Amino acid sequence: MKENLSINLKNTAGFISQEETLALAQLSVMHLESLNAGTGPGNDFLGWLSLPDDILPQLGRIEKTAEHLKRISDTTVVIGIGGSYLGARAVIEALSHTFAPLQNKKHHDIIYAGQNICEDYLADLLEILDNREYSIIAISKSGTTTEPAIAFRILKNHLENKIGKLKAAERIIAITDEKKGALRSMAETNGYETFIIPDNIGGRYSVLTPVGLLPIAISGIDIRALVTGAKSMETITRNNKHAESNPALLYAAARNLILQSGKPIEVMVGFTPRLHFFAEWWKQLYGESEGKDGKGIFPAAVDMTTDLHSMGQYIQDGQRLLFETIISVKSPSKKLTIPTEKDDSDQLNYLAGRRLSEVNHNAELGTTLAHNDGNVPIITINIPALDEFYTGQMIYFFEIACAVSGYILDVNPFDQPGVEAYKKNMFALLNKPGFEEAGKTLRKRL
Ligand code: PA5
Repeated sequence: MKENLSINLKNTAGFISQEETLALAQLSVMHLESLNAGTGPGNDFLGWLSLPDDILPQLGRIEKTAEHLKRISDTTVVIGIGGSYLGARAVIEALSHTFAPLQNKKHHDIIYAGQNICEDYLADLLEILDNREYSIIAISKSGTTTEPAIAFRILKNHLENKIGKLKAAERIIAITDEKKGALRSMAETNGYETFIIPDNIGGRYSVLTPVGLLPIAISGIDIRALVTGAKSMETITRNNKHAESNPALLYAAARNLILQSGKPIEVMVGFTPRLHFFAEWWKQLYGESEGKDGKGIFPAAVDMTTDLHSMGQYIQDGQRLLFETIISVKSPSKKLTIPTEKDDSDQLNYLAGRRLSEVNHNAELGTTLAHNDGNVPIITINIPALDEFYTGQMIYFFEIACAVSGYILDVNPFDQPGVEAYKKNMFALLNKPGFEEAGKTLRKRL
């Protein structure tokens, strides 16, 4: 039988008890029921729950479009921010060759834009694109978000000047709302191919829609295996009322109990750089879902062992405000052993013939024990391998656990009202029509 993602709470002992974790997890079955019945806060944003089945009819068209873009271009620029960006990047970086663009000249590059408004970033990108045959995927559910809208305007302009408006239209795909928003109108006016982001799926829960799956398919990753993994985690969690065998309930319960014990910061820890953007995706999922009404756990992330030489000191010894969630990957996909040196001048011969993964794994275990001794509760999420199937399992696991955890906190895990505050100020300071008066008031404060 295939192994599944599993959770190990052994290193939370001493901070929270097994009994109280199980009790809260069992109580949280009511939150699962409320998600399934659509009776909780944010119940108009629950489409992601059944995505592993609902997306199946679209996979063929997604794969076909991915192949088409790869045939007609050597580079795809994926434009989007937040939930319209992080899921695709998380999966692509987790599952691709670490040095993919350097691997071979025929490699189809994926470049991201619209996730910032940095002038140098976009200017540098245009310099690169001058010499590329590129396509664009513009992703925005609202179709009006400023960062991707500016990037799209600049890149569309560049592409149209380079190959003409008609040819550019063949190389632009829009992923947006079915009816509303500027991106939808532009797509219709210019005849771009489009994919729909369903009304009932929020950005940060959209990785298993075309938002994530089209860029992921272009990068050569098997999206069917990813969705199969997510489906298997749906089976393990969504209707499983036995807390002890439901890792999502256990994770949601443990992190809330640790919060209640006085630790409001959760640090996601990976021991492979491939998980860097997965942690970025997780930070958005949990930060935007839980951080409201003065509540929530602050999600942070570190890359080990790199950050043991920077953040390790604080985690071991600084203010005792945090706990860690380690993503522990059992087997690497490749094999590398440490060579023997005749004179052993670097004194590493005790490691000769041993795999690098053995060293990394022992660094992970050593870190777990050390941080635990330093009063850091540790949740470990075990996955057998970092492949499509288990990445799909992790996506569904963290999504459903996040929804349950939000309900435990008594917040709506599917809205993000706080994101509007900076936008209003920025529009006012930029004298956007309708915001001029607010701009005058704000400038006095600067
Ligand atoms: O999770 C969310 O809803 C947000 O992070 C959005 O994805 C992000 O703000 C981008 O929005 P849009 O897709 O409308 O451009």
